[in-house]
Amino acid sequence: MRFKQNKKVINYKSPGSFEETRFEKLHNIIYDNSDEASISIANSIAQLIKEKQSQKKNCVLGLATGSSPLSVYRELIKMHNEEGLSFNNVITFNLDEYLPISKNDINSYNYFMRVNLFDHIDILNKNINLPNGEIENQKVRKSCIDYEKKIKKLGGIDLQILGIGRTGHIGFNEPGSHFNSQTRAINLDDLTRFDAAKSFQGIENVPREAITMGIQTILNAKRIILMAWGSNKAKILQKAIEGEISSLVPTSYLQHHNNTTLVLDNEASSELVRIKTPWLVGSYEWTFDNRSKAIIWLCEKTGKSILKLTDNDYKENGMVDLLAVSTGSSYDLNIEMFNKLQHTITGWPGGKPNSDDSKRPERASPHPKKVIIFSPHPDDDVISMGGTFDRLVSQGNIVNVAYQTSGNIAVSNEDASKFIEVTHDMFSKEIDKDYKKIINKFKSKGSNYPDSNIVRKLKSSIRKRESLGATRYFGLPDSQVHFLNLPFYETGTVSKDLISKKDVEITIDLIRKIKPHQIYAAGDLADPHGTHGVCLEIIIRVIKRLKKESFMKNCWVWLYRGAWHEWDIHEIDMAVPMSPDQVVRKRNAIFFHQSQKDVVMFQGNDLREFWVRAEERNAQTAKKYREMGLSDYAAIEAFKRHPF
Ligand code: F6R
Repeated sequence: MRFKQNKKVINYKSPGSFEETRFEKLHNIIYDNSDEASISIANSIAQLIKEKQSQKKNCVLGLATGSSPLSVYRELIKMHNEEGLSFNNVITFNLDEYLPISKNDINSYNYFMRVNLFDHIDILNKNINLPNGEIENQKVRKSCIDYEKKIKKLGGIDLQILGIGRTGHIGFNEPGSHFNSQTRAINLDDLTRFDAAKSFQGIENVPREAITMGIQTILNAKRIILMAWGSNKAKILQKAIEGEISSLVPTSYLQHHNNTTLVLDNEASSELVRIKTPWLVGSYEWTFDNRSKAIIWLCEKTGKSILKLTDNDYKENGMVDLLAVSTGSSYDLNIEMFNKLQHTITGWPGGKPNSDDSKRPERASPHPKKVIIFSPHPDDDVISMGGTFDRLVSQGNIVNVAYQTSGNIAVSNEDASKFIEVTHDMFSKEIDKDYKKIINKFKSKGSNYPDSNIVRKLKSSIRKRESLGATRYFGLPDSQVHFLNLPFYETGTVSKDLISKKDVEITIDLIRKIKPHQIYAAGDLADPHGTHGVCLEIIIRVIKRLKKESFMKNCWVWLYRGAWHEWDIHEIDMAVPMSPDQVVRKRNAIFFHQSQKDVVMFQGNDLREFWVRAEERNAQTAKKYREMGLSDYAAIEAFKRHPF
């Protein structure tokens, strides 16, 4: 097998050299998706390894853990297996490790690196270096000094791979880290611990400390590639790339390094000036669609509704060329935009039968429509589109709900034991053996082990019954509720398997069976490797496969956002208003998901319960419409059409 030549690699260019990038102080490359980007990064690593091999030299790599580099590592393993790429001249230094943590804990970075890379390639054991999370307190300092010395002795790091945390950390250099810092023990930021809480099954299990390479250690690397995927990272990246160097955003220190490239996907780059407000940099080609983004931005900036924007507002905010390409007057532009927004609003998400639909977001016929609502977890349907769901059913459409995953890992052990104990109280003899088996499983295992099959089955069943409570409340027969239990999710831990053929087949089978006119799916772009991101990827792959089938010609796909975010106003193609009574019905439906109430296991740093979050989000969208000068609603659910 031979290593393929002429692959795409990541090359450095100095930042800010073009009009579009004049706000940028860190070189960055934006890819359509993280898979494509990861391949280019893996190619660059492989190229360096080969180069060093041909010079008979070692290649010293600085490596990161976390979800960001996973596909890069997968690609490297693939090159090793299929193209014979050898790692026998590679020496690695990992950025960081929790403290204290055992090497065999599934959350340790040591374990992560073995499972995701080292066990699958021919790297020599002696060439693998990670900070030691098992070390006693009094020996930490010395081991950090030794780590630094070893890197220097080997000639320094040739290529350092980095991710970025939402705090702006690189390695575990949290805000406040000093420019001169070297490998050391550090206290973890609360936000970082919140982000890790999912894997550790609760924030209380996340270690408070870590050992990390310092900022200076990282900056000493000859070449640095930082990767970031998903809209969760967009705000902090904007600060790091366009802001001043500050210890509050440790990634901004990379501005001192003149061989650093940031590799981003579209979502991660979405807050950069050239992406968010491209009309402010360079020459910009105005189209009917991109006008709305700019005009909504102008409303927010001036605090005015659309019909009150004046020629001067356009001129004073760098949008004079937009006036020039339209009729030259703000009056016509404003009306065009106002109508466009007005036409997104409908109380008939399944289309209004026997009516003129030329100015409505959905078709009037056929009616009723066959609908599938795909929900990544067994509650996203009601949290994100409960009002629309309710309307679709009450307006006579044939609604099917498909829960893509079982959602079992989000049920706490306490909740699960409650159910099994109640069952035992009722039917003690019949279930005595199973009861003991399950209760023992809870007792013997700590939080750092995957749930066993039987515990997963119990937790899945709890979520299934809760979902049926909500769908029955909306009047849906159980036969129209489908639990897909997609296999990629069933690992019993937070990290998931890759999408398999089976995940795709199960989804295809359902769509073929129902032949829907409408598909609703979660269009969550916050984290492409999270469950929502994977569920969306499955839908997109399935649609690609099915699009030539005749029934798909009549099928429209609508994307809702998950529990945390909402579409920006300019992205919305359909806005479904809710009355105060409908808001209450939606709340009631969410309440059926009791295992997710009060103490939501994976709440992140947002302590509000799901129903509060959903209501505030829907009220906020209604407020934005009102501020643009449109009608005043209590709440609005928003959808973006997915063309295919
Ligand atoms: C991991 C590390 C961290 C991560 C960062 C992003 O070794 O040092 O800085 O790179 O927290 O994590 P993910 O990739 O999981 O979003």
